Amino acid sequence: MALHVVVMAAGKGTRMKSHKPKVLHRLGVQPLLQHVLQAAAGLQAAQTLVITGHGADAVEAMVAGQPVHCVRQEPQLGTGHAIQQVVPHLSGEQGTVLILNGDVPLIRPETARALAAACGDQALALLTIELADPKGYGRIVRAADGAVRGIVEEKDASPDQRALREIYTGIMAAPLGALKRWVMALRNENAQREYYLTDIVAMAVAQGVPVVSQAAQDELDVLGVNDPRQLAQAERGLQMRLAQAQMQAGVRLADPARFDLRGTLTCGEDVEIDVGCVFEGRVRVGHRVTIGAHCVLRDAEIADDAVIQPFTHIEGAKVGAGAIVGPFARLRPGAALGPEVHIGNFVEVKNSTLGRGAKANHLAYLGDATVGARVNYGAGSITANYDGANKHRTVIEDDVHVGSNCVLVAPVTLGAGATIGGGSTIARPAPAGQLTVARAPQRSLPGWVRPAKAPKA
Ligand code: UD1
Ligand code: CA
Repeated sequence: MALHVVVMAAGKGTRMKSHKPKVLHRLGVQPLLQHVLQAAAGLQAAQTLVITGHGADAVEAMVAGQPVHCVRQEPQLGTGHAIQQVVPHLSGEQGTVLILNGDVPLIRPETARALAAACGDQALALLTIELADPKGYGRIVRAADGAVRGIVEEKDASPDQRALREIYTGIMAAPLGALKRWVMALRNENAQREYYLTDIVAMAVAQGVPVVSQAAQDELDVLGVNDPRQLAQAERGLQMRLAQAQMQAGVRLADPARFDLRGTLTCGEDVEIDVGCVFEGRVRVGHRVTIGAHCVLRDAEIADDAVIQPFTHIEGAKVGAGAIVGPFARLRPGAALGPEVHIGNFVEVKNSTLGRGAKANHLAYLGDATVGARVNYGAGSITANYDGANKHRTVIEDDVHVGSNCVLVAPVTLGAGATIGGGSTIARPAPAGQLTVARAPQRSLPGWVRPAKAPKA
């Protein structure tokens, strides 16, 4: 059977109260519509049609380059009218048309595939769900024997019908030839003066075409996003699925409800992640790593046995095996820490490499520096790497000790084993193995008297 996928994405999304077309609002890292297209991509459809209308230029630009065809619906006169627009793109009589919603983003491919199979080119298959609060949805109306009779929209429903809790999710699969005939026969004689796609159900029943319903197994699969509250609900749902996948792979999350992944995260064995961490871009974490609470990691690589302490921010950086970073550390792009490096609180490292066992434990800045093994970089020291126009490198060779509160004016090299006295401003090379001090000599003034207040007159 040939499968045709139609994604409805022309509606206005008034309740988002946003200038942006609803289906372009972000969920995780991508727009709502992209989630739907991703689910559809797994179905081997003969074609995927996207119905655009409100904000069509922006929506079409978003899908440009993907194997989908956009069909405009102008003006938007309802879901049935939307499907009328794709009729010219559905040739022949045989096949199944799967209708998805651009604002129902968390539909899983297996749910969509099962619905298409239930249609099997023959039956009209509806995805339904029972909701505790069915307000706003179309209700599934059944005969005494349980057979589906039709769908009635909330605004057209009688009080008895409004009490029904089984609703239509907005997702269906229909036989191609029959669908074309049904949508062309729709009328808009209803409360909203719209062409309701849902009216085709009663037509199928009247013509003796089998109507089957399939109950969604997971409420998230059919969660519609109509306002910011539902968008946030979908985000938590998506994040819960991502967290479950991590836990299934063995990652120990302190609380899956306080985990955010906006990209990809691959972890080795025995990784522990505390609450409130955000992972962005591509993050790779080795074995036995622990990540403390409230860290943000973006495009980062963390080697085995490293410890990332709370409130650390790592972006575009690599952390070596057994290194300890944080709390409150910041690694910026191009920071590459060797094994067993220690980076402590309020230390910022940018575009710098640190050799095995180097330490910068407190309140320091290393930018554009090459730091050797076992270097100890004192509290309050900085590289002055920027002269206002260009950036220069600082080279700190193995076993150097830099005292507290030093300024290393780049370009400059500190030779292996050099010691730099605290408070020094170093603008010329410091020889290997020697103590270099560059600060005003200490003086004491004997007989000096502290000023006193003049006596009152
Ligand atoms: C629709 C169903 C309702 C169902 C609900 C599930 C109809 C008549 N009603 O109602 O039974 O319970 O979905 O969420 O179908 N769209 C267009 N063009 C239009 C109108 C809508 O492309 O002219 C698109 C929207 O962008 C959206 C989808 O169709 O993706 C559904 O439209 P919406 O207005 O949200 O329909 P509901 O009133 O929620
Ligand atoms: Ca809707």
